[in-house]
This record gives sequence, structure tokens and C-alpha cells, in this order.
Amino acid sequence: MGADKNFDVLIIGFEPGLVTLLSSSLSKLKVNSLTTRGEVEHFLEHYQIGAGSTVFVSTAMQDMPFLEVAQAFSSLFIGVQIVFVTTDRMKFQITDLKKNGFSESFLLPNDMKILTDLIDDIALSKTSGIKKRFKAVKLIDLQAGQSLPFEVSTFLPANNKFITLTSSGQLSEKKFEVLKKKSVNSVYIEANNIEKFYEFAAEQMIALGQATNDGVSQTEKSARLQSNVRQLFRSVLDTSAGTSDFEVGRDLLEQSKAVVSTYVSKKTGLDLKGQLKQVLGEGQDSYAHAQSVSTIACLISMATGIGEPEDLAIAGLFHDIGIQGIAQDVSIFDISKLSEDDRNNYKLHPLVSVNLLKEKRITLTAKISDIILKHHERFDGKGFPEQLAAHRIPQEAYLLAYADALEYLSRPKPGQAKLSSLQMHELISSQLGIAPETLKSIKAFVVV
Ligand SMILES: [Fe+2]
Ligand SMILES: [Fe+2]
Repeated sequence: MGADKNFDVLIIGFEPGLVTLLSSSLSKLKVNSLTTRGEVEHFLEHYQIGAGSTVFVSTAMQDMPFLEVAQAFSSLFIGVQIVFVTTDRMKFQITDLKKNGFSESFLLPNDMKILTDLIDDIALSKTSGIKKRFKAVKLIDLQAGQSLPFEVSTFLPANNKFITLTSSGQLSEKKFEVLKKKSVNSVYIEANNIEKFYEFAAEQMIALGQATNDGVSQTEKSARLQSNVRQLFRSVLDTSAGTSDFEVGRDLLEQSKAVVSTYVSKKTGLDLKGQLKQVLGEGQDSYAHAQSVSTIACLISMATGIGEPEDLAIAGLFHDIGIQGIAQDVSIFDISKLSEDDRNNYKLHPLVSVNLLKEKRITLTAKISDIILKHHERFDGKGFPEQLAAHRIPQEAYLLAYADALEYLSRPKPGQAKLSSLQMHELISSQLGIAPETLKSIKAFVVV
């Protein structure tokens, strides 16, 4: 069954007893059940799961730990809800579960009612197309009196209820004040408006990055852009563990990625996802590292004024496509662990990436090719592939190297505590060979 593409819900490592327990709810859905490591790996290699889908994981798989399943799915599929289900109280360790990528967890029989409600919700949305869920978003550069192409709600935890703040997209002065106070938190919009929201947010960013004669000075605009980007950026990094609002974190990560790619396509007319697919082949377009690096690099560029944000987004997406075979998930922090052959091979990847793009007829500007080519060069001249001297390395290449390492360090790793932004910054500063002035500008933005 592992190869069946048409399913409503994916269940992994369910023992037969658990399937029986949930059978009346599950019977409303087409279920795809994976029961071995082989089936899981085959699935990960060949299939996509869309944002908003749910994957249920339990503990019955002999040859693959359930935490590893969660890590794999959460790092490959963005915006997918990964839900842990068990009847074994001993395995119900919420901190571990969250740290490894689970978005929700249910201990049966206690949580039977909410779990079956969730499955019934999924069934309802599949059959009627109705999705009741709200999504957490951060509104970019909201101004009083602004008219929005969607309604905005806020959530009252005490009443467990959403209340709408806008009326036909219009925000009153008073409600605007309410929202402003909430700027640290998020607001909610209906899930089916999410595309409109991406468009809106991208347009806001473009407007802030452009010189126009609208009476607002460029200095003020960049200050506004920076503070908005900073908030978005926090949400990109703060999704892995320890936050009380894990679901919100994942929604915001998804949001940042979509906003950045909408931003790039509006500014350059390029369809980044399509282009990446063209280079990598079908079935791999969720190459999560590339997408995250692209997002982080673009946001850092907006906030620091280093380079053009769209150049960094594009370079981020393609920077590692030249890594083939062995070293797919090798970071700059562990190349010393590679065999000599593999290491030499790895050191060529910036060059291979640029050549591969040419071969596939993806035309990039000279600037973008240069950023990709030099993303592993170092200020001390000890980088690769060309061991260039410092003055021949553009600031954007350092910025990309930073985003690359930050993405790697901020990813949840099994059994390891999450690093603070300062710890990540220090590790990057001491090991990557990034020019001091670039480090300085990025630090002001990244370190909380
Ligand atoms: Fe690289
Ligand atoms: Fe990379």
C-alpha cells in the first residue's frame, strides 16, 4: 500500500489494535498505511504532501523510531501537521515529541474524543471542501484605515473562540490599536484566504522597498520594512521547540516562505518553485533546506540592506543543487567527517551548481551566479572551490553562507537542546570565515 498515491490521510507505524480503535473515524477516509522503514523511505523519496495535510504516526514500526519519522516528515514537508498517537503513556513525552517535529500528540484512550474530532474534521474537509481552520499570520506593515483583502480575527484563549476584527476588510481606528498591541503575537485569517494573504504581504514588502512619491521618506520605509521583517524572521527560526505555540510557529514558517517566493515572483516574474523542479526533477520540489535558506537569506537582505533581496532568495534556492549523491545533507560544520574523496567532491559543488544551472538553461544574472559560486569562500582565503582573496568575495556570498549555516543550526536535532540565536551566531562567526563587517550587520538583526 506504501506506493498508493491517492489517499486522504497517511498513517505510519500503527499497530492493528490502534487501527481498530479508530476504525469508525478512519473508515470515512482513504487511508494509506506505512509499516516499515522501507515504505517510509520510498514514500519520502517519491511523493509530496501538500501544506495543511495531516500525517498520523504511532510507535509500532520495528525498524524506524517514531521520532525519526517525525524529523523526516517535518523537515521535508512544510506546513504539514504531524500528529503522534499512542496508547503507551511511557512514550508520551511531549517535550521530546515537539523537539522532533510533532505538532500535536494524543494519548489514548484519554484523548479519544479530540482525536476522532480531528479525523472527522479532515473527512469533512475532504468531502465538502470545507476547511474550518484558521491560520496564524503576521500582518506586514499594517496602517490604520487600511483596507485588507481578507478578514482578520484574533483568538481569545479563555473563550476558545475567534473574533473578527475587520469589517469587509476595513479596520477601524480602535481595532487597529488592538491589533498594534498584538503585533508581537499573531492574528488569524481563514485558511482559504491564505493565498490572498501571501500576495498582500509580498506587495506590502515591495512597496516598502521602493522609492515612490507617496510622502513617506525612504528612511522611514526602510525602518518599517526592517521591523516587519524582523518579526517574520523570528517566526522562521522559532519553530522547532520549546514554544508554547508550536502550531502557530509552523504556520508562520510556511507564511514566510510563501511570502518570500511571492515577493520574488512579483519582482522578477520568475516562478522559483517551477524552476527548482525543472533542475531537480519531479518529486523533489520540497527540497526543504534550499527553500528555508532562500527565505532566511532574503529576509536578512531586506533587514540589513546587503544586496538585493530577490538575488539572495534565488541564490539561496539554487546554491546547493550541485551537491550530488553522498553529501546531500552535509553541512559546512561536518565536512571534516567525510572521506577525502567525498570531501574533494563536495568542495566542487558551488561550481557544479552554477554549471548545472547553465546546462538546464536557467538564466541567472551574473550577480546571482557569483553569489552561488562563492558561498563557501572565506575571508581568510581558505575557502573553496577557488580559495579567493577576501576582496573578491561579495557581501552577498557571505550573507548566503550565514543563512545556510543558520538554517542548519536552527533545525531540530534528536536529543540536542536548541541553540539560542546568540549561540548560533557565535558558532557561525567562529567557523565560517565570514567578513567581520558582514557579521556585524547581520548580528544586529539576528541576535535577539
Ligand atoms: Fe553549499
Ligand atoms: Fe547549503
